[in-house]
Amino acid sequence: MKKYAITIAGGGSTFTPGMILMLMDNLDRFPIRSIKLYDNDEDRQNIIGNAFDIFMKERHPDIEFIHTLDPETAFSDTDFVMAQIRVGKYEMRSKDEKIPPKYGVIGQETCGPGGIAYGLRSIGGVIEILDYMEKYSPDAWMLNYSNPAAIVAEATRRLRPDSKIINICDMPIDLMYKMADMVGLKHWKDLDFSYYGLNHFGWFTEIKDKDGNDLMPQIKEHVSVNGFADGIGTAQHLDESWVETFTKAKDVYALDPETIPNTYLKYYLYPDFVMEHTDINHTRVDEVKEGREKEVFGLCNTITDRGTAEGIDFEIDAHASYIVDLAIALAENTKEVFLLIVENDGAVSNFDPTAMVEVPCIVDKSGYKKICQGKIPQFQKGMMEEQVSVEKLAVEAWIEGSYQKLWQALTLSKTVPSAKVAKLILDDLIEANKDFWPELH
Ligand code: NAD
Ligand code: LMR
Repeated sequence: MKKYAITIAGGGSTFTPGMILMLMDNLDRFPIRSIKLYDNDEDRQNIIGNAFDIFMKERHPDIEFIHTLDPETAFSDTDFVMAQIRVGKYEMRSKDEKIPPKYGVIGQETCGPGGIAYGLRSIGGVIEILDYMEKYSPDAWMLNYSNPAAIVAEATRRLRPDSKIINICDMPIDLMYKMADMVGLKHWKDLDFSYYGLNHFGWFTEIKDKDGNDLMPQIKEHVSVNGFADGIGTAQHLDESWVETFTKAKDVYALDPETIPNTYLKYYLYPDFVMEHTDINHTRVDEVKEGREKEVFGLCNTITDRGTAEGIDFEIDAHASYIVDLAIALAENTKEVFLLIVENDGAVSNFDPTAMVEVPCIVDKSGYKKICQGKIPQFQKGMMEEQVSVEKLAVEAWIEGSYQKLWQALTLSKTVPSAKVAKLILDDLIEANKDFWPELH
């Protein structure tokens, strides 16, 4: 069996330890010869890199492990680049989340004005990594988690249309774990499903077990009462704000009881509720810093201080398992079905063929084949037309350096009440992002 080389871009990410452990958990079906961490922040990456120098030497001395800031070292001789960068880090996420609420608009990592701001930072970072990969390992695949995936996917479609990049999201997988639990099954892979939408903006239309039995009635009944709140998912989304989001899914569901919604739709459909429950001084990023970052970095520092990883365990969750499963499908031709963010081109037949949609795809050695989802109803089509235009305008604004198009993008977002408010938020975001965004004129 071939042994694979993996590069993790955004090596200093809080998700890196989980990803390394998941890779180590799957060595029997996905042998690894090297893992390289790459980041552009030495201090941050060293926290994880130094700890895993010790961890890997103790538990997997036969696997090469390095962490580096040098693109040539990181991207040469690699088979898969797993990307999870956050351009601007938590400092900028905080501004994405706190600026729009000053004007009564939701502040969120990937939705609304905050998501657009983050998108305009991410495009350049992701393209840079893709270019490194193509220069040093032209046959490799890049599996991208870097958010906001919808804007990143549209940008790579426009700017690098022939690149071997697949954009993915872990949210629907966590939801599928919860739905499996609702019907007494264990794993998301125990379900057959149909789904369509944009990233963080989609709907399940079918859930069946592997014998073809329709599970939707049972799941709908459950979601109509509890949302996703009491389904056992993965360890990743346990914080208080997530519990609120999972509970609110019942009200999102109520709007279209034919489908099961993605949780992120709450930001578009119930922004008033979100604002009532927002503490502008303590947003999701603060929760992440006080929770996941503190915990992950704390464990890493303990390993480094003690000089041993003995007795230390990290969480490995859906986030890690999904990207590793996808790499295995590409490497070993498993023909499993994954939700991917891909160019529509007829997969949703009554929707823009150039839109980057999230639909199930069969993944094999040659890449992926989309599974057609047919026609979608007016309600979803209307919402998606508006949102895809926001994403396309944001990418055009980045490419052309256009203030006008970015103002249009913000104005069109369902989360923003008027062109006036859009302009006020935009002008604040321009100031906050001046080290990251192209100059707009
Ligand atoms: P994090 O801040 O902990 O880590 C991101 C790392 O990226 C940092 O170490 C930072 O220095 C590095 N980085 C920033 N710009 C870079 C560049 N140009 N080149 C190389 N490295 C760079 O962030 P996190 O919370 O672990 O999240 C990482 C990414 O994964 C984010 O984009 C986040 O939105 C995304 N994410 C995606 C999903 C999904 O399902 N798609 C789920 C969770 C998180
Ligand atoms: C995170 O925890 O940072 C991501 O899963 C996304 C979010 O907003 O919580």
